[in-house]
Amino acid sequence: MNRLSSLFLSVAFLFLSAWLGFVVYSYLELGRMKPLEGSDGVLPPQLSGQAILGARVYAANGCVTCHSQQVRQTSVTHSDIERNWGKRPSVARDYLRDQTAFLGMMRIGPDLSNVGVRLSNPRWHYQHLYEPATVVAGSTMPSYRYLFRLQKIQGQPSAEAISLVGNHAPQEGYEVVPTQEAKNLVAYLLSLQHDYTLPEVSPENASTH
Ligand code: HEC
Repeated sequence: MNRLSSLFLSVAFLFLSAWLGFVVYSYLELGRMKPLEGSDGVLPPQLSGQAILGARVYAANGCVTCHSQQVRQTSVTHSDIERNWGKRPSVARDYLRDQTAFLGMMRIGPDLSNVGVRLSNPRWHYQHLYEPATVVAGSTMPSYRYLFRLQKIQGQPSAEAISLVGNHAPQEGYEVVPTQEAKNLVAYLLSLQHDYTLPEVSPENASTH
């Protein structure tokens, strides 16, 4: 065998073993995983149609650039659980309902796996998305004002209008309301609640030492 063909064979072997290890092995181990049916209903719970649409808004706006959605294993670190990012580490079954699993690689902002548990008020999210620094002093998160609409107040102010003061307040007689995209995105954020117990990982075996 000449040197070129042995080089070719070694490279092919390398790619084949990586493919077997990363794709085939994972598929055999996790590919047939199903939601669990227990006394508390189906786990992970089904997402609402609005939350599914909101996941597309999350993707389109690049939220995954700065936010992860994975509570790290306690064998690696306890810091995610200590920071209240979740009661237990994330496991494969948590992502079963997702069309795209937004695992994320960067944590410029907090992990959002359980943001719907931590921050359950939709009004907080609207105001935060419109201008993060108005609710979290010194926030470096970009504002997503284009997901909102400025409209003239017709009679009574809208119940959906966000309360803005100072520099951020709209001109007299106008109000800022969320667009359908913002509503879908917030429905998605509120759906991020992976605090249920699964047999493969319960809060007890994730407790910090
Ligand atoms: C450039 C980085 C960056 C991008 C992009 C970004 N964020 Fe953030 N986000 C942050 C930072 C930093 C914080 C922490 C400060 C704060 O709460 O405003 C944060 C905080 C948050 C929080 C509050 C979490 C908590 O536990 O307090 C939510 C919810 C959130 N972001 C949602 C989003 C959504 C939805 C998008 C996309 C539309 C997005 N972020 C895009 C940086 C970012």
